[in-house]
Amino acid sequence: ASKTVKLNTGAEMPTVGLGTWKSAPGAVEHAVEFALRNGYKHIDTAAAYKNEKEVGAGIAASQVPRGSIFLTTKLDNPDQKEASEALESSLKNLGTDYLDLWLMHWPAPMTKDEPAVADPSHDWLDTWKSMEALYKKYPEKLKAIGVSNFSVEFLERLLAVAEVVPAVNQIEMHPSCPSQDVLDFCRGKGIVVTAYSPLGSDNSPLLTNEVVTKLAEKYDVTPANILVSLQANKSGVSVLPKSVTNTRILSNAVIIDLTDEEMKELDAIDKTHHFRACHPSWTGWGSLGFPDCK
Ligand code: A2P
Repeated sequence: ASKTVKLNTGAEMPTVGLGTWKSAPGAVEHAVEFALRNGYKHIDTAAAYKNEKEVGAGIAASQVPRGSIFLTTKLDNPDQKEASEALESSLKNLGTDYLDLWLMHWPAPMTKDEPAVADPSHDWLDTWKSMEALYKKYPEKLKAIGVSNFSVEFLERLLAVAEVVPAVNQIEMHPSCPSQDVLDFCRGKGIVVTAYSPLGSDNSPLLTNEVVTKLAEKYDVTPANILVSLQANKSGVSVLPKSVTNTRILSNAVIIDLTDEEMKELDAIDKTHHFRACHPSWTGWGSLGFPDCK
């Protein structure tokens, strides 16, 4: 059986899942179907990605039973005032009766304007209260709830009032952005960390970094295998490599063991040239507690 990580609900989350951020319409349905037919059991999407319908179609086309799949989606920033409606919409789009995990996408309520801007009339802590209420009221629809893009500061604010400890905090995590402080904090609270953009997203300089390529040669795998394995080797961590390319989808699921020394060396890469795949300043809420990658 493939590796899993245990959530604070008792559920097992498959360690490697297929990411679908920036997976183009027309490509993501096939990617999801292909991944599920070839052993993936964990799919991650979001209302904000505008691809839930296609992800749902890919799940249906795969003919893999829903019960064998761990499915995550996220509450979009402009929907924070209407969590209940947003949940129903995601379930409908995905063509499913339940979510294995539902995340608050950002601690950043936004308006429904085009383009959306920060909505200071709403507090994201109230959004968490709504998510908790839905989780308690509809246990058959929501198997777990969690957050995404939460720094330590935001998690502390959340835990001060939360009745339900988030099962997961999904954050950007790769050697240019190891987020060790968030990982340490989450481990201490029993919150699983899910790493998005483990390769560093599109056109990543990490794929040609000499520490990465040296280890890829040593183990006779690809640089991507090293970067995905780095996160998968960490305790309490799951990882979401994104691809719409068949060969890469297959390859990215291959996890190898790295030594502690090698993991340290990888996470020490490129300390002078940090980059983030995701720049949350678009929210109008500033950098949301992630000013620099640590
Ligand atoms: P594509 O989807 O066209 O295959 P991340 O997971 O860090 O967000 O990175 C996703 C980016 O990395 C996408 O551009 C994706 O391209 C590319 N990618 C995914 N898997 C691999 C791989 N094994 N080797 C090189 N690039 C990859």
